Parts: sequence; structure tokens; C-alpha cells
Amino acid sequence: MTHPSFPNIAACVFDAYGTLFDVHSAAAREAPRLGDKASALSALWRQKQLEYTWLRSLMHAHADFWQVTGDALDYAMDSLGIEDSDLRESLMRLYLSLTAYPDVTPTLERLRAAGLKTAILSNGEPKMLQAAVESADIARLLDAALSIEDVGVYKPDPRVYQLACDRLEVTAERVCFVSTNAWDASGAAYFGFKVAWMNRFGQKPERLDGKPNAIITGLDELPELLGL
Ligand code: LAC
Repeated sequence: MTHPSFPNIAACVFDAYGTLFDVHSAAAREAPRLGDKASALSALWRQKQLEYTWLRSLMHAHADFWQVTGDALDYAMDSLGIEDSDLRESLMRLYLSLTAYPDVTPTLERLRAAGLKTAILSNGEPKMLQAAVESADIARLLDAALSIEDVGVYKPDPRVYQLACDRLEVTAERVCFVSTNAWDASGAAYFGFKVAWMNRFGQKPERLDGKPNAIITGLDELPELLGL
């Protein structure tokens, strides 16, 4: 049965990093070299990466997500006392082929079969997104991989969410937006999307304006939510 908040959905729009792609898979693949610092490095890398997006947007000092990701990695390695340029290069390279979660392909296939448009809307700069999409072999299952580079500001600026409406030619209330990042879910809900917050990691809800319309724990719950 369709969830009451998700009638008449025409497009499903997904956040990329953390939602479709496992951002911790890069450090996990370098676990032999990182040893017991792997998970601390990965967590700090991600946290700094996001902070730099928000700060750069506030400072009006945009730099693309590849640079931000590298700067955040430098900060995290420095903080943990890791000095290894070969390891740095490897971690950045691995960021281009992050592991896709196993529920991604089957869910996209079901949504497409039901006639819905599907797209990524991400902070990732276009080449990063293209690499991730190709590595996961999901290009055939997407109408678009939209990058914030087209508006030059990071999520959760409303201009980012508007980009999806413009490119997919759908109104906000006909978009089901899915993100694991609770702050992104809030931003998208505040903008006017119908939002499914995919709480893969059992996080607490954000205390922000813009509440998700539904909370799911995996992408496989999405078709039922949309009454497919
Ligand atoms: C993205 C970040 C927020 O893909 O994960 O936009």
C-alpha cells in the first residue's frame, strides 16, 4: 500500500555518498596499511569532508568535491599522525570506485520497471560521480547523475534540490528523495521533496526544520513505500 505521504511520485532521486556508495569502503580496502586507525581515519575523513562543504558554501569559497575530499583526507591523516603519500594517493583513487550497497541495483531495477525516473543528486563533481556510477554498473539504471557543480554551492542549499526538479522536469512534491544523511534528508524535506530518510546506521533524528516523511532502513523498502 502506498504510504500516504508518497502519492503520485514520478521520480526517485538519491543522494550518492553514504546512500548508494559506502564511503568507508576506501579505508576498509586499505585496512592492512591503516591497521587499527582505519575506522577512525574514515570517520574523521567523512566528517571533515562534509564540514568543508558547509563551510565553503557559507564562505562563498567554492571548491569542487574532489578538492574538498582531498583536503579532508589530509586533515584526517595529519590528525592521526599518518604521513604516507602513496597511501593518500591510493585512498583517493579508491574513492572513485567505492562499493555500492547490495540493495542498490535491485531497487533501481524495480523502480525503473515501474516507469519511475531515477537520478543521483550529489555533492560529487561530475567525474567522481561518473566513476562511481561506472564502477557500480548502474548507469543503465539512471536518467541522470546530477552534480552540485551545476549550481556551484553544496547541499543543503535549496538551489541544489531545485536542480533535480529542473533537470527531471518534475515538481518537488512528485519527487521521492532518498538519503542516508539525516541533514540532507532535512534539507530536502524543507525544500519540498517527499523524503525517505534511509537510516542505515541507526542514527538519531536531526533537530532541524524539514522532517522526513518516512524512515526506512534499506533501499529494498522503497518500492512498498511508493505502492509498487
Ligand atoms: C552527496 C553527499 C552528501 O553525495 O553524500 O551529496
